[in-house]
Amino acid sequence: MKSPTDQSNRPVVGIVMGSDSDLGVMEKAASLLNQLSVPFEMTVSSAHRSPERTADYASSARARGIRVIIAGAGAAAHLAGSIAAQTTLPVIGVPIDSSSLRGLDALLATVQMPAGVPVATMAIGAAGAKNAAVLAAQILATSDPDIEGRLEEFKKEMAAQVAQKAETLRKKL
Ligand code: RP5
Repeated sequence: MKSPTDQSNRPVVGIVMGSDSDLGVMEKAASLLNQLSVPFEMTVSSAHRSPERTADYASSARARGIRVIIAGAGAAAHLAGSIAAQTTLPVIGVPIDSSSLRGLDALLATVQMPAGVPVATMAIGAAGAKNAAVLAAQILATSDPDIEGRLEEFKKEMAAQVAQKAETLRKKL
């Protein structure tokens, strides 16, 4: 089986956000994908302000080589759901805390999809954006041993950091 990333640096993950004001959160997903050497593309499209652009993005993604889509939006966040409605690619939603309701609105709008149209919904904000990247890599790793190896290293590094924190705390007591 061909690895999704073995031919070129062609993007296999699409990161879409509802506004450029979401970039501060969504760049966390981008930097984790960079860390895991997973090629990605990133753009802005709004379910409400540019519905045709969103539909075009969703319906053309698979043919362009995209394997997983990460969609981040705040407020009445319909971006991930409207993309999921128009593709068979897995869609990961990141609710963004950009409104006065601090992301609870976006969380509910993203997670409460009708049966048959799933969006894998992450935590609100930066942790959700990071986990979206990890989940996208884990999906790709089901058919890409190189990405699987880098995820193993990533998890070992996290465990080592926790052990280091525990040791630092032990020395302080
Ligand atoms: C949502 O509205 C966007 O995803 C963003 O989180 C929020 C505010 O957008 P701007 O008014 O800053 O463009 O659609």
